[in-house]
Amino acid sequence: MSGNSKQIITIDGPAGAGKSTVAKQLAHKLNVSYLDTGAMYRALTFKAIQRNIDLEDEEAIVAMAQQTNIDLESHGLRAKVLLDGKDVSEDIRSVEVTNKTFYIAQKPRVRAIMVDWQRKLGAQKSIVVEGRDVGTVVFPQANKKFYLDANVDERSRRRMEELMEKGNEVDKDQLTAELKERDNKDLTRRVGPLKKAEDAVYIDTTDLSVEEVI
Ligand code: DC
Repeated sequence: MSGNSKQIITIDGPAGAGKSTVAKQLAHKLNVSYLDTGAMYRALTFKAIQRNIDLEDEEAIVAMAQQTNIDLESHGLRAKVLLDGKDVSEDIRSVEVTNKTFYIAQKPRVRAIMVDWQRKLGAQKSIVVEGRDVGTVVFPQANKKFYLDANVDERSRRRMEELMEKGNEVDKDQLTAELKERDNKDLTRRVGPLKKAEDAVYIDTTDLSVEEVI
């Protein structure tokens, strides 16, 4: 993107809607940075699990977050997540972290810290940013907003493929149940719930290729 003004493109939507794939490739095409806000919630969850911090204890999580440094680096189509300087890009994608991140994501004071970090990163450069509340809460003034969706079977199929590629054994029914559970938690959380911004373009990716979505 050219010009002096920083451009922000937001992509929200449920798990498996294709946000990461699309956001990364779009950022690459536009030659801007890619910001994965889910990775920040995941990294914080990973740190809390490692330190045996009670995920329900908001006070303790806030104190930990204030002593945490999360850096997101994008190199071409690859994104790296550095937690206090250590590369945790793989660790934060485990099934345990995936299923436990909602604890942290539902805490208002933790979200406030995350939103603050995300806005600081967004103020530095043009970005494509993905998450659940990036078009509604984090960057309501974004230049372009998108909401990606897909039916639950297709989202579950994509997630299964991703896990199997990494050599995991998967039970499709269990995966679909976990996905529905995450949808429910994302949609019903009191702060920063998953929601389409009024001015976001809605794209159903169920029958579209990545190229078509982009
Ligand atoms: O996009 P993802 O699956 O990597 O996100 C991980 C978790 O973080 C997911 O349970 C929802 C939560 N999340 C959030 O609450 N707000 C965001 N902006 C991004 C992710």
